[in-house]
Amino acid sequence: MFFASDNGAGATPAVLNALIKANDGYRAAYGNDDETREVENLISALFEKQCYVFLVSTGTAANALALSALTPPWGAVLAHKHAHIVEDECGAPEFYMHGARLIPIDGVAGKLTASGVEQAISSYSPRVPHAMPLKAISLTQSTETGGVYSVKEVTEICAIAKNAGLYTHMDGARFGNAIAALGCSPADLTWRAGVDVLSFGATKGGALACEAVVFFNEALAEDFIYRRKRGGHLISKHRLLTAQMKGYLEDWLVNAKHANDMATMMAKGLQDKGIKIAYPVEANEVFPVLNGKQDAALKAAGASYYPWGDKESLVKPQDDKNIFRLVTSFATKREEVEAFLRHT
Ligand SMILES: Cc1ncc(COP(=O)(O)O)c(C=O)c1O
Repeated sequence: MFFASDNGAGATPAVLNALIKANDGYRAAYGNDDETREVENLISALFEKQCYVFLVSTGTAANALALSALTPPWGAVLAHKHAHIVEDECGAPEFYMHGARLIPIDGVAGKLTASGVEQAISSYSPRVPHAMPLKAISLTQSTETGGVYSVKEVTEICAIAKNAGLYTHMDGARFGNAIAALGCSPADLTWRAGVDVLSFGATKGGALACEAVVFFNEALAEDFIYRRKRGGHLISKHRLLTAQMKGYLEDWLVNAKHANDMATMMAKGLQDKGIKIAYPVEANEVFPVLNGKQDAALKAAGASYYPWGDKESLVKPQDDKNIFRLVTSFATKREEVEAFLRHT
């Protein structure tokens, strides 16, 4: 009954097989190998456009480096106040942006809204040269609270951003879960909707440690080879990073759909027992409101998950109840969900 994080799962067989294959023999180091070009082309084909692709080994590096390409050191980046880049990356975005600032803004149930973004931009005072000019906005897809922005929502937010001269970054640590949930094309959810750069996560979906920074605009990617190297994220045995992405892309949507299905099954089972869920379940996370007795019984039975706290939740916990986070993954077994439900 492991629901603490999708990072708790290992790697998929496709990723491990790709690694074993790529391990054989020698290749040029630092990404100067044919397989890396092949994976770059695969990603361009997936997004139906020439993309500028840079592999790194953590989601934090992908986000922080991507954002650093969107703003000068005196700029500012809007993001949801509970976004991973705001709360969970120990200042890495600000570090890589050389002083540029993240400006946290409100959303609804963990998601930015077009009207909220419009309001944040219009109420920001550009006191030249005293205030930091807004340069970009970042969206998380799927969100930190298991929600998914529709293509329409992404398009609206990107249009508002573009109108104000801002670039859009998408933190897609769980991009696969969003695509599996929406059933749309990766192109429709990104560059066709106005996204300039995507942190395309593979780790949570079954790689060991691999994410791609995907630029849809050549000019923004111009200096990125230097940013990645200078930031210490150009992996010397790069082909082994490439192999992970290649293996991941073999069955990423099947795996993401499985993770989403397990979350849906969990949410339905909990609701059938009268347990409230704090956010809409649209991807691979479920946030049940449990009382102390239920929490203790689940922990005693060996269930693993974390408390979450009340972050723009739609259900306000009362008495001895609290919101907890359950995350499913490609590795989650139906029996684990059934066992969790039996103990609640
Ligand atoms: C939404 C989101 N973005 C980025 C990351 C960062 O990934 P990493 O832990 O690989 O740096 C995470 C990890 O939990 C995440 O949930």
